Amino acid sequence: MYKSVLITGASRGIGFAACEGFLKAGWQVFACARDIHPLEDLSKEYPSLIPIVCDLRDPEEIGHLFDVIRQYVDQLDAVVNNAGVSYIGLIQDMTAESWDELMEINLRAPFLVIKAALPGMLRAHEGVIVNISSMWGTYGASCEAAYSASKGGLSAFTKALAKELAPSGIRVNAIAAGAIDTSMNAFLSLEERKQLEDEIGLGRLGRPEEVADLILYLCSEKSSYLTGAIIPLDGGY
Ligand SMILES: NC(=O)c1ccc[n+]([C@@H]2O[C@H](COP(=O)([O-])OP(=O)(O)OC[C@H]3O[C@@H](n4cnc5c(N)ncnc54)[C@H](OP(=O)(O)O)[C@@H]3O)[C@@H](O)[C@H]2O)c1
Repeated sequence: MYKSVLITGASRGIGFAACEGFLKAGWQVFACARDIHPLEDLSKEYPSLIPIVCDLRDPEEIGHLFDVIRQYVDQLDAVVNNAGVSYIGLIQDMTAESWDELMEINLRAPFLVIKAALPGMLRAHEGVIVNISSMWGTYGASCEAAYSASKGGLSAFTKALAKELAPSGIRVNAIAAGAIDTSMNAFLSLEERKQLEDEIGLGRLGRPEEVADLILYLCSEKSSYLTGAIIPLDGGY
């Protein structure tokens, strides 16, 4: 029988690569984003992919997302909270509205998604949650203070929740990703990118597929003793 996973922010980048990884491994994949066109194309190749439109800023849309999922499965085996946005700029230039919006997507949405997925996982006494955090949540980045705060919060949420849910057989881990080659870093000039690469031990940005491989491992039985971990995946930054 298929195992099932929900991946948020699956229309491109790390989320899209994770979708492909899970589909190749034979999972049923529920994949959401605001723009699901790339996922609809992929679902022609993989009928076990169910793309669902969802703006994670809206709790009602998250409710609808789970209404659709429940039409297919009683419970999810895994949830990957991947959707995220960055904000680059000085903190004194950031409005409260921009702060709130970033926190809604990066921190509140994982809470709401997990809350909606938990009843099924608790009934089954098993499940896996993977949150995509960032090395900036650990180290902090200049001009990304709000983003760093959201990811630091997500990492702390992960550790606390792992303790709360371990007695119920549910594992919770996070990946503290370094610089990954996705549209999130498209704003970098060639010179800025080179500077960043020079700060990375392995001398290059990570590939989305490399993050996807770790996500898949964290959702598999091979990591059955791993919970509450914030795993750095940053090429030795
Ligand atoms: N790239 C990096 O260097 C890096 C490093 C560390 C951590 N991360 C984290 O990794 C995760 C994925 O990043 P990425 O690099 O793959 O970014 P990306 O290419 O920009 O993709 C972001 C995804 O999030 C979705 N998303 C954004 N706002 C949304 C909303 N309001 N509702 C629903 N979905 C929304 C986007 O879909 P739609 O626009 O179609 O809605 C898209 O699928 C993020 O949490 C990011 O913070 C990335």
